[in-house]
Amino acid sequence: MKFVTQTLVLLILLAVGVGFAVTLPQFDDTSDLLALDADADRGELVFHAAGCASCHAPPGADDKSLLSGGARFISDFGTFIAPNISQDPDFGIGAWDVHMFAAAVRQGLAPDGSHYYPAFPYASYAKMSDQDIVDIFLYMRGLPSSSTPSLAHEVAFPFNIRRAIGVWKARYLTDDWILDDIRTDQLERGRYLVEGLGHCAECHTPRDILGGLVRSKWMGGAPNPSGDGRIPNIRPDALGWSALEIADYLETGFTPEFDVAGGSMKAVVENYAKLPASDREAVAAYLLSIR
Ligand code: HEC
Ligand code: HEC
Repeated sequence: MKFVTQTLVLLILLAVGVGFAVTLPQFDDTSDLLALDADADRGELVFHAAGCASCHAPPGADDKSLLSGGARFISDFGTFIAPNISQDPDFGIGAWDVHMFAAAVRQGLAPDGSHYYPAFPYASYAKMSDQDIVDIFLYMRGLPSSSTPSLAHEVAFPFNIRRAIGVWKARYLTDDWILDDIRTDQLERGRYLVEGLGHCAECHTPRDILGGLVRSKWMGGAPNPSGDGRIPNIRPDALGWSALEIADYLETGFTPEFDVAGGSMKAVVENYAKLPASDREAVAAYLLSIR
């Protein structure tokens, strides 16, 4: 039943949307990026904070620097398969310039102007700073190439019409912050990591019928798209952990009860363990400030 309703709503959106300018790509002007000094070491940290390898490394790979894709993501709209974003010029993104990269990551736009599915969490990455874009791009230039072809998504009509994603973007793609009462540099950093790079809400916040995040239930927990249990509510009242306990969990994977982080959170912890302690503390401060 849920699926039928979604299909109906989507069809209406399509009927209204396809003819409208809202579905046409509008590339941001990113000429300013060229004036920035890129740094690959900083880019490596951005790459981990953003968890790019968690989706784009082949499933189960030990070496997460080979971004040949292949991981499958089940959703209400079909199964998406992570593409090859290695440095191969034909099968990956080795032939892209930084402007194409920025449009993909922050706007969900392919070089040919088609829309990416929001299974690629660009709705969070929309907040990525210019400096982080150039740094991560340079870092990825140094990663290996793979000639594994990207696989087509298994998505049925009407969800296979990429133009309709323009309607979704008009509704949900914004770089507005969720928490606006930010009083310290630490909280500001935490907000950038949680709402932007870390895309924590993409898993921890429930979605409405069109797959948009329900802002009023920010981090309030959600069904696991894999069908395997629920992703926990991590609002402060539900979590009940101190800042130190949250920061520790992000470093070691141990909860205060000495359980170990499992499921898709395991990769998040592996990445956050590589960041400076100040970043984990900033994330903790942010989580505790959610009201
Ligand atoms: C939650 C999983 C996930 C994460 C995390 C993720 N991606 Fe993706 N990415 C995808 C999916 C799925 C697609 C395919 C989207 C489509 O085809 O519409 C994609 C597509 C892309 C593309 C377009 C590739 C092409 O061939 O057109 C680029 C570039 C990309 N991702 C880069 C990144 C970078 C850089 C990061 C980290 C900052 C990242 N991705 C993080 C899932 C993810
Ligand atoms: C790809 C999905 C995904 C993303 C992204 C994600 N999480 Fe999680 N998170 C989970 C899952 C699944 C669990 C439950 C882990 C378990 O069962 O051990 C979890 C558990 C947690 C817990 C422990 C909750 C508890 O009660 O045990 C915290 C804290 C947490 N996540 C914080 C974060 C933060 C902060 C971020 C962003 C930096 C984040 N998560 C990003 C999926 C995700």
